[in-house]
Amino acid sequence: MVTIALAKGRLADEAVELFQKSGILCNKPDDFSRKLIFHSEDGSIRFILVKPSDVPTYVEYGAADAGIAGKDTLLEEGRAIYEMLDLGFGKCRMVVAGFPEKKDIWITNAHTRVATKYPNITRSYFSRQGESVEIIRLNGSVELGPLIGLSDVIVDIVESGRTLRENGLVVLEEICPISARLVVNRVSLKVKDRELRSIMDKIQKVLEEQNNG
Ligand code: PRP
Repeated sequence: MVTIALAKGRLADEAVELFQKSGILCNKPDDFSRKLIFHSEDGSIRFILVKPSDVPTYVEYGAADAGIAGKDTLLEEGRAIYEMLDLGFGKCRMVVAGFPEKKDIWITNAHTRVATKYPNITRSYFSRQGESVEIIRLNGSVELGPLIGLSDVIVDIVESGRTLRENGLVVLEEICPISARLVVNRVSLKVKDRELRSIMDKIQKVLEEQNNG
């Protein structure tokens, strides 16, 4: 049996839809949001629903053979796992955002504070830029940072742009594009090669049909 970890929340719905289109799942499992384990119809695949940031952990330790997670989570967690497929959904951008009047001048601050749910991505981005900043780790509603003076800017994902807009913030710099990825455990890729390749082939076929359609 192959175990696949899905990120609870936004990505899980689209992941399940992809497995349905691939013929791996026939129906959306009953009580999808609460049940943490469910199986494919033929019983060959076990799906587990985990917190998004835990997907790479389950996959690295082999508790899951594969997983679906956002590129943001993969970059932040930095786990030793193989990234096999870009699934094309969950598209958004990792950006630096702040007040529009800060555009072009914010980084010249002697002491710039950055609020974020992604401290590792933030640290690595600013160190590549040769900038030294103070990182303030938050767990959500990061946009509040500049609004109430906790930070000068934020590093966060932007999807529709609505949260930034409604809070008077703008994108100051683009860090990287984000989308959902299929990741695989390094040992499982050898030991369960046939099963995993068959799953990936089915998914790849759906992705190709979507790209051509
Ligand atoms: C994410 C992200 C932004 C928002 C972006 O937050 O951190 O706040 O979505 O989406 P938008 O560009 O479509 O408005 P999430 O909804 O995960 O909630 P959180 O802030 O509590 O983490």
